[in-house]
Amino acid sequence: MIDINKNFTQLSEDYLFRNIALKVAKFREENPNKKIIKMGIGDVSLPITKNIVKSFHKAIDDMSKKETFKGYGNEQGYDFLRENIKKYYQNRNVILDIDEIFISDGAKSDLGNILDIFDNNINVTISNPVYPAYVDANIINGNKINFINGDISNNFLPTLDDKCKESLVYICSPNNPTGAVYDKDSLKNIVDFANRNNCIIIFDSAYEIFIEDQNLPHSIFEIDGAKNCAIEICSFSKSAGFTGVRCGYTIIPKEVKLNKISLNKLWFRRQSTKFNGVSYITQVGANEFFSEASQKEIVNIVKYYKRNSKLIFDTLTKLNILCYGGVNSPYVWLKTPNKESSWEYFDLLLEGLGIVGTPGVGFGKNGEGYFRLTGFSSYEDTILAMNKFEEFYKK
Ligand code: MLT
Repeated sequence: MIDINKNFTQLSEDYLFRNIALKVAKFREENPNKKIIKMGIGDVSLPITKNIVKSFHKAIDDMSKKETFKGYGNEQGYDFLRENIKKYYQNRNVILDIDEIFISDGAKSDLGNILDIFDNNINVTISNPVYPAYVDANIINGNKINFINGDISNNFLPTLDDKCKESLVYICSPNNPTGAVYDKDSLKNIVDFANRNNCIIIFDSAYEIFIEDQNLPHSIFEIDGAKNCAIEICSFSKSAGFTGVRCGYTIIPKEVKLNKISLNKLWFRRQSTKFNGVSYITQVGANEFFSEASQKEIVNIVKYYKRNSKLIFDTLTKLNILCYGGVNSPYVWLKTPNKESSWEYFDLLLEGLGIVGTPGVGFGKNGEGYFRLTGFSSYEDTILAMNKFEEFYKK
């Protein structure tokens, strides 16, 4: 007998960002002349830097010559890229072996795919609010989700309690959507809890490049003991502007084991079967991200987006709208000013000001009454949007 995976019936009809895209498309159709400012999905607006583009061209040329042509690469990624990722971590005193680094087609895929190496129906701990892809992927696998609450009382940085024992724990820091970042002490508490209670942490560090506070950890492996219990998943999407190119990486230290079985080995096996690696051209481009010349360009790109989030944060604060994030993160998380629900506020901003944001409740029930704006738009659009906010709230 054949049947569908019935867990799909437990999912909401549409994934959050698709739902928003559909609403915006309808609004555009009904208001063809209205300018829409996109501050919803965290998609980058600046093009890929010159040096990375040059390296893409070079890689394409390699493919055109018999001597340098590449067919299948190894599923885990080319060593040249893994060596550079290794050095990137070494600069933060995290020592990795290149066999612990797996190149992927972006963080989102691996955050869900990683579930292949765990049993179905396992216990999973997910903070709320958080990036909705974790929840959906775990529903699809039939896992039992226990939410840990992030709210004003804990600065949107929930901690683990007895209900989280023996579970797979998803942590996103800097957090999407709130912009909150765990400091080393609170992350140490999470790591110690995981090691004491047979948990595995999936640490999503997709926004690490936006951290400016020198004391905050970029990687969970900066924390003692993390190599025994954590997997880290990162992305070139927001740092190198690869949202449309697709490249990221997953780090599984050899020490992480469940019932004495190495998760690194299981993931290696899984990838060898289900993945044929990221294209050579993409990996050459991602590799260029680490060159000295590119890093200088990347610093300016990060500064550009952070100037936007600062402008959003400062404008909202001036208007007495309570907000969070925006400093070590590209996201600003605001409390709707007049107790509007998240979706009411979405409609108000879209219909009234032509601004698209993301309803907080889309990130979980604790996000109800909140709203997310991103610093990833152009500076000009961010200024325009903030002028609209000022005009609207000063009336
Ligand atoms: C977001 O807006 O939360 C992210 O851009 C979505 C993603 O990275 O898939």
